[in-house]
Amino acid sequence: MSRNKMLYGSLRSRWKNSKWLAEVCALAETKLRDHRHGDLPRWRAALDALPQVRAGALLNQPAPELGCSVSDQHGLREALMELHPWRKGPLCLGGLTLDTEWRSDWKWGRLAPHIDLHGQRVLDIGCGNGYFGLRMLGAGAELVVGIDPTLLYVMQWLACRHFSGGIPNYVLPLGIEELPEIAVDLDTVFSMGVLYHRKDPAHHLQRIHSLLKTGGSMVLETLVLPEGMEEDLLVPDSRYARMRNVWAIPGTDCLLQWVEEAGFENIEVVDVTPTTSLEQRTTDWMRFESLEQALDPSDTSQTVEGLPAPVRAIVIARS
Ligand SMILES: C[S@@+](CC[C@H](N)C(=O)[O-])C[C@H]1O[C@@H](n2cnc3c(N)ncnc32)[C@H](O)[C@@H]1O
Repeated sequence: MSRNKMLYGSLRSRWKNSKWLAEVCALAETKLRDHRHGDLPRWRAALDALPQVRAGALLNQPAPELGCSVSDQHGLREALMELHPWRKGPLCLGGLTLDTEWRSDWKWGRLAPHIDLHGQRVLDIGCGNGYFGLRMLGAGAELVVGIDPTLLYVMQWLACRHFSGGIPNYVLPLGIEELPEIAVDLDTVFSMGVLYHRKDPAHHLQRIHSLLKTGGSMVLETLVLPEGMEEDLLVPDSRYARMRNVWAIPGTDCLLQWVEEAGFENIEVVDVTPTTSLEQRTTDWMRFESLEQALDPSDTSQTVEGLPAPVRAIVIARS
């Protein structure tokens, strides 16, 4: 059996009668098999260089601890650094703490009091390296299927999996637009940090609605405009906070209207928080420029393009 077949074979067996999941796994396997990314051999070598470890997972904490502590911390650091940049975390792998670009635990802290994932099958769209999937399992989820088209994050998830062993948190190299149009009844679908990257946000929300069982929940986290601009919609001319792929940022009222129009009910904004350079910053594990360089140094309420600085909202709604 090939390496990729084995990888998602265990995912298939966790939800045996789901045609949707079987199809999703087949797509992921094909994509991994045929990927021609130039860094793939180096990433594979880094994964092969990870030290032997006794697997384990302590998930219900800000930096999930995966695997027992290994003696060669220097070698471990070198291998994991080949998978730079590490954006979502913090994570503790084999006894080494990865201080990632994002304090993703802060986002989780704002969100967790508002959801109950016990026994649920969850889809996380744009899951990055699967950090939030670990926290979802820690909060009682039965299965987390994460999708993210960025191959490096799948490699980082494989590194995490080396330490955690076969826990039911998966990352598949797929975008939402690649998911098959087969009926599926997911309990909760997360879409965090993805909506503003989508050219057609209304379609993104409708697609999430179609993936949920009746009464299922969407957890949507996205950029919004600051207080006083609730009904506005910003469509950046070019970049936003130095990002090329931000298509539209709504005020919260505008966002709620999109969510309602997609067919959701019981819609609630549970949090609105400005993103600061304490939450998103350059670290040893993400050495590129970060939020600080995207904000106007003389007025951090604005981006370098003169647009409102990032504020993020969390919306929970039922299908
Ligand atoms: C800003 S990050 C957010 C990551 C994480 N969900 C979080 O909240 O921190 C956006 C993620 O969405 C992924 N992404 C981009 N386009 C996507 C698509 N079409 N479908 C699914 N994920 C996508 C990117 O690769 C990236 O990992």
